[in-house]
Amino acid sequence: MEQLLQQIEVYRREIEAYNTNGADGAEQFRITYLGSKGIVKSLMGEMKQVPAEKKKEFGQILNDFKQFTEDRYNSLKENAADDKQVAASAIDLSLPGDEIPVGSRHPISMMRNRIVSIFQRLGFSVAEGPEIEDDWHNFTALNLPEHHPARDMQDTFYISTNPAWLLRTHTSNIQIREMEKGKLPLRIVCPGRVYRNETISARSHCFFHQVEGLYIDENVSFADLKQTLYFFVKEMYGDDVKVRFRPSYFPFTEPSAEMDISCLLCKGAGCNVCKYTGWLEILGCGMVHPKVLEHCNIDSEKYTGFAFGMGVERPALLKYGINDIRLFSENDVRFLKQFTGIV
Ligand code: DAH
Repeated sequence: MEQLLQQIEVYRREIEAYNTNGADGAEQFRITYLGSKGIVKSLMGEMKQVPAEKKKEFGQILNDFKQFTEDRYNSLKENAADDKQVAASAIDLSLPGDEIPVGSRHPISMMRNRIVSIFQRLGFSVAEGPEIEDDWHNFTALNLPEHHPARDMQDTFYISTNPAWLLRTHTSNIQIREMEKGKLPLRIVCPGRVYRNETISARSHCFFHQVEGLYIDENVSFADLKQTLYFFVKEMYGDDVKVRFRPSYFPFTEPSAEMDISCLLCKGAGCNVCKYTGWLEILGCGMVHPKVLEHCNIDSEKYTGFAFGMGVERPALLKYGINDIRLFSENDVRFLKQFTGIV
């Protein structure tokens, strides 16, 4: 019996050290130790040699050994199954990685940021407002009462279930909303998307972007307006560009003007971009109409102000050499990815 116990101890160590992995290794183990001609079976056969009074003790040891062997077999089997699964889903490290495209800023956002940052340097802060607007803030408060002929130029989209609401036609609604807050002086730039009921073509769209400017304080003059816009043009287009103001009409400003810069492409000689005039119109501006100030409860005797509004699409077309405004909203990655890396 002593000898048998020693033998079992040797088997235990052998089993612990067993290291043939995989399904084959597990099967080999089963045959050797647990098979019908295996070691556990043959140890059972030794039972008859054990003296009667030791049989119980030996039986117990043998059972423990059998349990130990079976546990080892089960864990070998499990490991083999895990290995198989890993092999099936194996990651091929030699494959090239997935390409993660680097996004880019949209050219309209880039141009808007450029415009806004120039005015920020002059002390203007950014204000924004709703795209779905009521009649008062988009038209009436801006001295465009119902049936005013100037509304014709800004036909827009209405909400059919409630025609009191419309998609704003310009960012000038933000002027009104900010002035209504009653905090003066006011010096803001207002970037945003606007809508018009227009036929879509390479040069016009039913939505586009504007940046509005507004400065209200005591003694603000047309000279301040000109100086501010001269600075803007210099920063934006360079020192060589010429500027001219043409008298114009907007219901919300008096006097009103449109500002042109000398054509960036032909430098004033005339080309198809400037329609052979040598000039490009870039914004509308003027001194805020006293009626607009009064609509916002601002004392028009005490305060004056200037305002301006410009489109974002046109300067972006010029800057990036794009010839169709529709490209901005088509979401074509081939177009958009050309701006990767530009800030
Ligand atoms: N709101 C005008 C438009 O959309 C642009 C504009 C012109 C804004 C003159 C102004 C301004 O603030 O003073 O055509």
